[in-house]
Amino acid sequence: MNLLMKLTFLASVWLSSTFVYVKANSLEYDGWLNIALFHALDIDDPSKFTLRGNVTVTNRNTGLVSVAQEPLSLQDRNKLKRLAQENRLYRLEAHVTDSEGVTKFLTSSKACALAKSQLTDVLWVSLDHTGTVTAVTQSVNNGNLNECADLSNSDVDVLDEFNTDVYVKHTEPAPIPDTASFIQKMEREREARERGETKDNRSFFAKYWMYLVPVVILLLISATNPEAGQQR
Ligand SMILES: *[C@@H]1O[C@H](CO)[C@@H](O)[C@H](O)[C@H]1NC(C)=O
Ligand SMILES: *[C@@H]1O[C@H](CO)[C@@H](O)[C@H](O)[C@H]1NC(C)=O
Repeated sequence: MNLLMKLTFLASVWLSSTFVYVKANSLEYDGWLNIALFHALDIDDPSKFTLRGNVTVTNRNTGLVSVAQEPLSLQDRNKLKRLAQENRLYRLEAHVTDSEGVTKFLTSSKACALAKSQLTDVLWVSLDHTGTVTAVTQSVNNGNLNECADLSNSDVDVLDEFNTDVYVKHTEPAPIPDTASFIQKMEREREARERGETKDNRSFFAKYWMYLVPVVILLLISATNPEAGQQR
């Protein structure tokens, strides 16, 4: 094989493996899905969820999303302020609708952290390899802030618009360990040991190929090198 042929061969191997990787990484189903977000702001009525907004994932493969959220009313801002001051959780219920129906997910974060970050949060939409939603998780950059006793009115005034980034995350299936065949292999080896059959009966070449190959290569090089032949 000349150099060009070798390069072409390597390139095609690389291309086909890349293609297989890309194919394995794409979902079986990439259609739309809609996520309606409801939040619980009322300390006195914890089971009451009100509409916060809608997220539409137009393509599950590319993670293309559009977000439309309602601004918080003055009452809602004061409810969130109370949640934050009393260091409660801000709870979010995501109703995921696609052609299959509706699935609900509940996620929560510190109300104080959300207030301090001025309603900036991140929404992770996790999909399995079939494109089915397995989780909707809200997180707030400020994390576990507990210092909201000093929340002032000017802090609350800026709590009007949510500023939300949505990320669509593809979850790869985890490799399943092949325990059964490993145990069988151990069993076979143990039995072989007991019968005294473990002596290395591989062929001469199987045992010593790593020493033989360099010698063969050296022989080939000197055979194809005309100067080496002429030195006799
Ligand atoms: C979200 O969707 C619901 C139902 O389709 C609609 O009533 C509501 O106005 C939408 N809200 C926003 C902010 O787009
Ligand atoms: C080595 O011996 C074992 C047991 O007799 C046999 O099962 C196995 O096939 C042999 N391997 C080779 C490479 O001959």
